[in-house]
Amino acid sequence: MSTQRRTSFINSQTTTSQQIRPSVITWFLQRPHSIPILLAIFLFLAWISLRVQLVYHTPPHSSHRDALVNLVRFHASHIAKDNRGWLFDPIVLALDSGLSGGAVTCSSLHVGEIRPGKRRGNHRHHHCNETFLIWGAATRFRLENSEQDDGYAEVTIGRDEIAVATSPVDKAHALVNIDSTRSIFFIGCQDSVMNNSASSTDFNVWKDL
Ligand SMILES: *[C@@H]1O[C@H](CO)[C@@H](O)[C@H](O)[C@H]1NC(C)=O
Ligand SMILES: *[C@@H]1O[C@H](CO)[C@@H](O)[C@H](O)[C@H]1NC(C)=O
Repeated sequence: MSTQRRTSFINSQTTTSQQIRPSVITWFLQRPHSIPILLAIFLFLAWISLRVQLVYHTPPHSSHRDALVNLVRFHASHIAKDNRGWLFDPIVLALDSGLSGGAVTCSSLHVGEIRPGKRRGNHRHHHCNETFLIWGAATRFRLENSEQDDGYAEVTIGRDEIAVATSPVDKAHALVNIDSTRSIFFIGCQDSVMNNSASSTDFNVWKDL
């Protein structure tokens, strides 16, 4: 008799808790604020999923074309570790990104600006490998590549991107500022000192730049 009563008591408890769950949802959906709350939850989940995708795709996010010009690129806002901004070693980063053919020690260093519409490079060094760090403006970067039909490959770097590129010895390179207002800034690290008295560089390699 008592066993029967306990069983029926347990059954009635189970039934009650099963009935509560759907009714809580129904009650929630009938509330006037349920739609904004659901929308907020949905937006939050969408934001989380977007963040996960961004983290997955940064840095480096190099494309097939970037590989043809020995280049990796980063979005400035993604590589800043804190609110001071970005900071990194381009030589280490080039090596870590699998870029070959660059300078791994800087025997000489060139730091420069290229104003809108201007260009630098368009030359070929026979005495050194070079590693570049490029940022500040929309840039056309060209590197000699014998496997391409035109003898070179080319990419565009966005004005909020930072690029590291390597130019091996005997390969021509060029940087063209295609930005309407901003200056390109760049560092070129060479693994030997330029000898101006020797014909170690070919100038004006491409006529179409
Ligand atoms: C350039 O890099 C190659 C290896 O990629 C190295 O053998 C060479 O000594 C470097 N420097 C010059 C000036 O060629
Ligand atoms: C530069 O090259 C010339 C000719 O090749 C050579 O005589 C001179 O010693 C070189 N200078 C340096 C600093 O390497």
